[in-house]
Amino acid sequence: MAVETPLKGVIGDSIRRKEDDRFIRGRGNYVDDISLPGMLHMAILRSPYAHARIRSIKVDAGQALPGVVAVVTGELLAQHKLAWMPTLSGDTQAVLATDKVRFQGQEVACVIATEAAIARDALPLIEVDYDVLPAVVDPWKSLDPGAPLIRDEKEGQTSNHIYHWEAGDKAKTDEAFAKADRVVSLESFYPRCHPSPLETCGIVADINSATGQANLYMTSQAPHAHRTLFAIVAGLPEEKIRIISPDIGGGFGNKVPIYPGYVVATAASLLIGKPVKWVEDRSDNLISTGFARDFHMRGEMALSDSGQMLGLRVKLLSDNGAFFADAQPSKFKAGLFHIVTGSYDIPTAFVEADGAYTNKAPGGVAYRCSFRVTEASYLIERLVENAAVEMKMDPADIRLKNFIKPEQFPYKSATGFEYDSGDYPRAMQLALDKLGYKELRKEQAEKRKKGELMGIGVASFTEVVGAGPGKHYDIVGLRMFDSAELRVHPTGKAILKLGVKSQGQGHETTFAQIVANELGIPAADVEVQEGDTDNTPYGLGTYASRSTPVGGAATAVVSRKLRDKAKIIAAHLLEASEGDIEFDQGKFFVRGAPSKAKTIQEIAFAAYTNLPDGLEAGLEGVTYYDPPNMTFPFGTYMVVVDIDRGTGQVKVRRMVAVDDCGVRINPMVVEGQIHGGLTEGFGIAFMELITFDEEGNCIGSNFTDYLLPTAWETPKFETFETVTPSPHHPIGAKGVGESATVGSPAAFVNAVIDAVAHLGITNIDMPVTSDKVWAALNEKGAAE
Ligand code: CDP
Repeated sequence: MAVETPLKGVIGDSIRRKEDDRFIRGRGNYVDDISLPGMLHMAILRSPYAHARIRSIKVDAGQALPGVVAVVTGELLAQHKLAWMPTLSGDTQAVLATDKVRFQGQEVACVIATEAAIARDALPLIEVDYDVLPAVVDPWKSLDPGAPLIRDEKEGQTSNHIYHWEAGDKAKTDEAFAKADRVVSLESFYPRCHPSPLETCGIVADINSATGQANLYMTSQAPHAHRTLFAIVAGLPEEKIRIISPDIGGGFGNKVPIYPGYVVATAASLLIGKPVKWVEDRSDNLISTGFARDFHMRGEMALSDSGQMLGLRVKLLSDNGAFFADAQPSKFKAGLFHIVTGSYDIPTAFVEADGAYTNKAPGGVAYRCSFRVTEASYLIERLVENAAVEMKMDPADIRLKNFIKPEQFPYKSATGFEYDSGDYPRAMQLALDKLGYKELRKEQAEKRKKGELMGIGVASFTEVVGAGPGKHYDIVGLRMFDSAELRVHPTGKAILKLGVKSQGQGHETTFAQIVANELGIPAADVEVQEGDTDNTPYGLGTYASRSTPVGGAATAVVSRKLRDKAKIIAAHLLEASEGDIEFDQGKFFVRGAPSKAKTIQEIAFAAYTNLPDGLEAGLEGVTYYDPPNMTFPFGTYMVVVDIDRGTGQVKVRRMVAVDDCGVRINPMVVEGQIHGGLTEGFGIAFMELITFDEEGNCIGSNFTDYLLPTAWETPKFETFETVTPSPHHPIGAKGVGESATVGSPAAFVNAVIDAVAHLGITNIDMPVTSDKVWAALNEKGAAE
């Protein structure tokens, strides 16, 4: 029997984000806000060349500038065995170059000074004598036998090839292709782009030379994992390292790797005995840290005459830059292996992935995506679009025909992954209805008769988020679980400490809502803390939309542990048997008698003042949650575009997005995540590009060249939901943070292709800029 007054701020309520109070008042506390007594500042001298041998570095003039405390070079770091560091992919990366520079913008020396401006002023005074070498920026050319060898310091490395990995069943896939009526193929390039968080990366390293205590204030999406890596790499005792990741102004994967600046600032603080601050400027961020994508992909799909998908072949070449630093679990090396077949029931698949070194910045970060899911989703959805064109099928119909059916879940994919739940036809049908698809197709046919270009893009994505399970997923060997510690104080207020770390996603609100739901403590009374390794239980951090699937599950489980104890206390207070106690809406009552109830607040007080004999005092607990599977959010995105034949300009007229992330904790926060993700997808599809000239000069190291969408360019989004709970998540939630970035680029590009496919144009690589569209139209004699 339910208690009547419904609790507010529980799961499903769109309450306002608690953290926004401080953010909108300018009261956030970011790394750059931290100022410690005696703090020094660091600036990094970067290589102007993409590939050059270093003959010598003269630091005297820089060192002599008043205010300069030290100039750190690779040679100095080498004396402390810190000139090189391991990457997240088990490669090595130069902290400061000793032998060669291998990309433009690589870290060559650091100046430590009393003021940031002085540190920057000293950089041009450092004389580096370079012997410029030929650079290679194209991964195909870098694999040519005569290409300049980039990693000549690596023993046994005789070419720029990094790896060859395979997944799926080659023989079975070859057989499917041999039997197929049709084979559709697509060559596609997912260009290099950058997460570009508003706040760049930075650190304040404070090592106390007397005690050895290292306090590192860092822009870290994974403070605990970083602590362990610092302990291993720098040889610092882990119990003396405290990583504090304060407010973070966006991460999107950019703040997962460890960058040279973090290491040098820490080493400098250790050597000098004073706190050292380093904060990147915008160009530092764009030129040297954490790019994403840069994948050359070839997809082939085997089909029957009726449009049934029979098999999939994928071959890809990844441009990893000068150091292989992708963030990905060791078992699923190419990242996209697990989701390459998308939302479709494709019986067999075979994937081959190769990686190449080039003279570009390293990174390969999972920019708002679970490893390489974005690339996988883009490829399959573009391929299906082209299949529809070739087979003269409607792009919605070919999808509906091949979707994994709701009754097939849990579904084992051709590459061996078990999708937890889904109802793809329902999401697509909702999108079709909301868009008014049939009417728009009629309008398109009319316009086409008049020579006008209008396109309707369809993309149905399936995402995979929430790593672990730990037995399958790890980061540098650390199993991917996550944690929650909950303490309820005597007055019934609580503090929840998590191993994940928000970068603006609203955890302080949504995780408090989970506690409210499970225990009845109002969300406003639950203080959520993250990001301080001394103060939170060990966790793997926030990226790949894993916080809700793993940290959210841990929060529900720990709350339920406390609820079990609360029932014992309630039984004692109500003089009833524990088995007769029920819980609803924050009240504990004897079955059948809801009016005789105890609130969680009364129980919390009793946990410290009036306990049954033999029961431990307090109301607190900790949970380390290892999920049984990933969660698989999904959705259908549809875009309507009009294209100007005279300029090639694409105008996005409408965008309808249906997302299913299982149970929504806070629908307003989810909407915010989707709007942000769609904007990023729009930017990637139409605007963003980090490119390089033949000599390896990075074009796109500032926001004049690297174009991010503002409110001016961004179209209006019409968002809708279906709810298919995850069967294994304690509250049925799936992750959502990255869905829209993963799913939307293909919808935008498919809309453009839909407008021009009848002219024989089957691909335009992103970003789909006006000049590319106009050139494609012109080639077909269709431009004005
Ligand atoms: O790991 P990250 O926080 O980036 O991604 P997420 O787990 O997808 O969560 C993003 C935000 O949306 C968080 O505040 C979540 O709690 C919230 N969310 C939600 O309210 N309901 C869901 N089903 C999924 C996420």
